[in-house]
Amino acid sequence: MLENLTEIEKAALEALGAVRDEAALEAWRVAFLGRSSPLMQVFAGLGGLSKEERPVVGQRANEVKKALEARLAAKSEELRAAALKRSLEEERLDVTLPGRHLPRGRLHPDTQMLRELYRVFGEMGFQVYRSREVESDEYNFQLLNFPVGHPARDMQDTYFVDADGKDADNPTVLRTHTSPGQIHAMREYSARDPQNPPPVRIILPGMVYRYEQTDARHEMQFDQLEGLAVGPGITFSNLKGTLTDMARRLFGPQARTRFRASFFPFTEPSAEFDIECFLCGGKGCAVCGGGWLEIGGSGMVHPVVLRNGGYDPKRYTGFAFGFGIQRIAMLKYHISDIRLFWQNDLRFLEQF
Ligand code: PHE
Repeated sequence: MLENLTEIEKAALEALGAVRDEAALEAWRVAFLGRSSPLMQVFAGLGGLSKEERPVVGQRANEVKKALEARLAAKSEELRAAALKRSLEEERLDVTLPGRHLPRGRLHPDTQMLRELYRVFGEMGFQVYRSREVESDEYNFQLLNFPVGHPARDMQDTYFVDADGKDADNPTVLRTHTSPGQIHAMREYSARDPQNPPPVRIILPGMVYRYEQTDARHEMQFDQLEGLAVGPGITFSNLKGTLTDMARRLFGPQARTRFRASFFPFTEPSAEFDIECFLCGGKGCAVCGGGWLEIGGSGMVHPVVLRNGGYDPKRYTGFAFGFGIQRIAMLKYHISDIRLFWQNDLRFLEQF
């Protein structure tokens, strides 16, 4: 019996030496420590032994069982450690590899420019007023003091919607400038309190349309930013101060502005305003020519326009201005062709 146990132990330890993985280890456990293993048979047969033999064999069988269980635990631990080591080597994660590039969206240069202008005018107390792009001739021209047939209309030839001659004296147009928004805004404001209309201080951004021969400086559609301030005692120096402040906030404290007498039917007096070229400091360069950059039009709101908006020109005065957003963006980012803005070419857009 005792030799038998020694044989069992020897065979088990030999077999264990060949075990390489968890499955083989489990098979080994069943074969040598399982219910029907030779060792367990010895325990089962203890009852049939003599009184003298029983404790001796029983003790030895227990020793063998303990020894095999200890080897099983040790082997199991060994296999686990080996598997971990292998997986660490084989499935190595190189955290120093550069990650995959995720393209990020960005704002269109036009939108960036607009938002910067919102900030600049927001700091001066102007609110954004949105106005429609499809207008009537009445709002786009007539209420702004361009009567039918007025020669100043030639500056802003536009797209008329052919309504079968139904509205021949007031056709539908794509707005040529943001100025019709002045009338919409003043009428809305003055309707709140017709006897005592509240003051207005707004900017009106948006797309405008003109029938243009397109080239590097002309597009059929572009964005304008209009400004309008109406109230008692508003003067031309308020206009100059506002636009000069805008130039300084956009281009730095040394920026200078220049006003040149001009004509618009809806302002009187009218002025074009220029900003001293911030690229050459006013010396004159390829971009500006003579040292000044032409930005847009401006002036004191014409009494007829004030009245059309519901404001009594005897009690109220106001100033207005309007300029192209792309114009400023082109100067700021050195963009040489205005047509690039709406071509949706990523090579252009990704530069901003
Ligand atoms: N609406 C004019 C244009 O587009 C610009 C302008 C706006 C001039 C407001 C004076 C006052 O040319």
